[in-house]
Amino acid sequence: MEKIKKIQNKKNKSKIVCLTAYSKNFAEEVDKHVDIVLVGDSLGSVLYNYSSTKKVTLTEMINHSKSVRLGVKKSLMVVDMPYKTYETKNLALKNAKNIIKETKCDAVKLEGGKKVIKQIKFLIKNKIPVMGHLGLLPQSTKKFKSKGKTNKEAKQLFNESKLLQESGVFAIVLECVKTPIAKKISQYLDIPTIGIGSSVHCDGQVLVTDDLIGLNQTKIKFVKQFLNVKKYINAGLRKYASEVRSKKYPTKKHSY
Ligand code: KIV
Repeated sequence: MEKIKKIQNKKNKSKIVCLTAYSKNFAEEVDKHVDIVLVGDSLGSVLYNYSSTKKVTLTEMINHSKSVRLGVKKSLMVVDMPYKTYETKNLALKNAKNIIKETKCDAVKLEGGKKVIKQIKFLIKNKIPVMGHLGLLPQSTKKFKSKGKTNKEAKQLFNESKLLQESGVFAIVLECVKTPIAKKISQYLDIPTIGIGSSVHCDGQVLVTDDLIGLNQTKIKFVKQFLNVKKYINAGLRKYASEVRSKKYPTKKHSY
């Protein structure tokens, strides 16, 4: 709760930084730079080439999250509840409790507004911190397109964000939400919004780490590649392969 309060207190003061991690070694590095480490179900497409996050299982989320837990020391750790694991409030509670027990994460994230409000309220009533997710919802859509273009869509997003705040979520991810409505929601709500493709007006930003360092190649509009990490990985691997072939490695120093 302390960590959540600290993050919420950043609203209107400083931006909240969030990134994904799917394993210990990545989590260790990500943890040094962010406020929130998210074990996103994006791991389905990034690591397993799944065509949709709908294929990600609870077991996969738990196993990756256990590894991430080993690397996260200071940040808030949030785990995505995968598709079909929160269809009713009782199922949501059973699975969220299991995720928390197995992974020792600090909070869970659910996709949707009105449709999942009963589940969200029930988790919060049972002392499970919840992060909301509105806009593009990868678990319930096939089409990758922005949200909030029409007045009707913008109004719905605004109403659902208010509903989520009233239900007690501590923050809301806004994915691919048009700038004007993302700005309006962020200014109206007391809780922070974390944007992905939803403009600088959100209270924080999230990206998939593999995308921003160039490990996962993607052409998605909201991704900025900050580094080409493959260049460095390949330089090291090339050197290793060359030294093995030329018998330069291992030397006596590396041998028993
Ligand atoms: O699954 C994920 O990584 C996410 C973020 C991109 C918001 O939900």
